[in-house]
Amino acid sequence: MPDLEREKAAAAARAVAMVTDGMRVGLGTGSTAAYAVKALGERVRQGLRIVGIPTSERTRLLAQEVGIALTDFAHTQELDIAIDGTDEADFQLRLIKGGGGALLREKIVASTAKRFVVIADSQKLVARLGKFPLPVEVVKFAAPLVERVLRELGSTPKLRVGADGSPFVTDEGNHILDAHFGVIADPEHVARVLTDAPGVVDHGLFLGMATTLVIARGDGVEVIERS
Ligand code: A5P
Repeated sequence: MPDLEREKAAAAARAVAMVTDGMRVGLGTGSTAAYAVKALGERVRQGLRIVGIPTSERTRLLAQEVGIALTDFAHTQELDIAIDGTDEADFQLRLIKGGGGALLREKIVASTAKRFVVIADSQKLVARLGKFPLPVEVVKFAAPLVERVLRELGSTPKLRVGADGSPFVTDEGNHILDAHFGVIADPEHVARVLTDAPGVVDHGLFLGMATTLVIARGDGVEVIERS
């Protein structure tokens, strides 16, 4: 297994060890989160009883495949833990998420969890957020207006397209603008402006949400709790 994949699997395994019997678990999206879902499936096969809420249709399919019982917000409005990957994390545990396009459901699921555990390989920890383009989920009608807001914030927005060149459509039927900042000097300001902009459904800045970062580096795994 290449080094980064080993790191992803190791971070996922550490987070999955935090899950205990009876927990309600948020199931993240992306290649790192997939390791966690598979590891949880393995523990379920060994007798662990949990219910999960997936953050995407992709994760729903994977969870069903590995035998994790699923629930939804009609049945429970609080989760004990959510485990998800990230595209970037800084030392304050602020995140950019949504590279996989699932940021909206990811944020909703994380917001209901008592503990939000972010799992990452060594490439994801950065001094300053913004090298990874910030995903912003928008209603189609308003995309040009949000593009203007993103330019005023100092970024270059690009409509995300799929392999066939047509706009990427999220699980909730919206489009995504990827905003290239380089560096986001003031993530709180950017988050506030975007939250207030009509037509923005949500954005990939997850601020003050992660309680724990599990970061794998080479053969070691470090667990950082938000202070
Ligand atoms: C999905 O929408 C994202 O938020 C992912 O959690 C994030 O992109 C990390 O993905 P990888 O684990 O594949 O790097």
